Amino acid sequence: MSVQSIHFDADTEVLTILDQTLLPQEERYVEVLTLEQAEQAIKSLQVRGAPAIAYFGAFVLAKEASRLQDNPYFHLQLNQVGQRLIATRPTAVNLQHVIESLLRLNVGEDFEQIAKAIKQRAIEIFEQDVATYRTIGEHALTVLPAGGNVLTICNAGAIATSRYGTALAPFYVGKERGIPFRVFASETRPLLQGARLTVWELDRADIDVTLITDNMAAWTIQTKQIDAIIVGADRITRTGHTANKIGTLQLAILAKHYGIPFYVAAPHSTFDLEADDTIQIEERDAHEVTHIGGHPTALVGITVFNPAFDVTPPELITGLITETGVLEPTESVIVEHVGGNTYV
Ligand code: MRU
Repeated sequence: MSVQSIHFDADTEVLTILDQTLLPQEERYVEVLTLEQAEQAIKSLQVRGAPAIAYFGAFVLAKEASRLQDNPYFHLQLNQVGQRLIATRPTAVNLQHVIESLLRLNVGEDFEQIAKAIKQRAIEIFEQDVATYRTIGEHALTVLPAGGNVLTICNAGAIATSRYGTALAPFYVGKERGIPFRVFASETRPLLQGARLTVWELDRADIDVTLITDNMAAWTIQTKQIDAIIVGADRITRTGHTANKIGTLQLAILAKHYGIPFYVAAPHSTFDLEADDTIQIEERDAHEVTHIGGHPTALVGITVFNPAFDVTPPELITGLITETGVLEPTESVIVEHVGGNTYV
C-alpha cells in the first residue's frame, strides 16, 4: 500500500501531515494546529501536489468551521479563511474547487450543523478520491506498454494525492497486478521533488526507479529506450492547456521530437473549464534557485527567474488520463467529459 501524507481524525480533529520538505532524510509527521501554520505548510511545500493541497485545505477549513461555530460572524470569517487558503498557491486549481464547494454547502442556518457538514464532506472527498486515483492508474495501464521505460517529472505520486497518485498510479496498480515498469525520475530542480520524493516513494514500494538530472532527459530518451512520458497537472483548461511543474513543457517538446507519447494524468477536479490558454503561474523565491538544500550555489544577488510551473499546449499532449478514461486534449472532448467543479 502506498504512503499516506495527510491524516485527519474526525473525532479529535487532529490534522497531521508528512513534512515533505524533510524527505527523504527524515519521515516526520507534524500536527497542524493553526490557520497560519497551515498557510505556511502549503507555501513552504511541507504539503504539496495539487490534490493533496486541496484535501489539506478542506481539513483546515473544517477545523476552522468548528472553531468558529459560536461566532456570530461565522460565514464572513469562514469565507476569509477560505480566501486565505486559496491564495497560498495560485496555479493549482483543486484547492480553489474544494474550498468553494465546501463554502457553498447548503445545510441550513445552524453554524454547528454547517461545521459538521463541512467536516463530513471533507472526509468523504478524501476517502472517495482513493478510488479515483486507482481508476486513473487502470486507465493509464491501457496506454502504457507493460514492461516499458517511462519518464516522469516532479512528484505526482501517493504523497501528492490521497493514495496512488496520478502519474505514478499506473506503477502502483501495475505492481499489484504483476505488470512491471522501469520508471525514470527527473530530479526536478529547484526543489528536487523527483529526487527527494518520487524516488523515495517508488523505492519504498519496490518499484524500479532510476534518477536522472533534468538536463539528462533528451539523452535518456535517446539511449534508454524511453517508451512514454507521464506527468501530473496543477490545472488543465477547457482548451487542454496544462500547467504542471516547471520542466514539463520541455519534456513534451522532447516527446514530440522523439515520437513517443506524452500523457498527462489528472482527476476531473484538476480541470478548470472557465480558463482557456491563460493560467497564472506561481513565481517563487530566488533563494530556491540560488541554493540547493540550503547551500548557496550561485553568485550572491544575481537576478533570478523562478516560475514554479509551465504550460504545455494541447498539441503536445497525446492524452489526458482521467478517472473516466483517456481523453483527447480538445475543447469539445474536455467540455463533454469533464463536469466542472467535481467536488460539488
Ligand atoms: O510545486 P509542487 O511540488 O506542488 O508541484 C506539484 C506538481 O507539479 C504535480 O505534478 C501536480 O501538482 C500533480 S500532483 C498529483
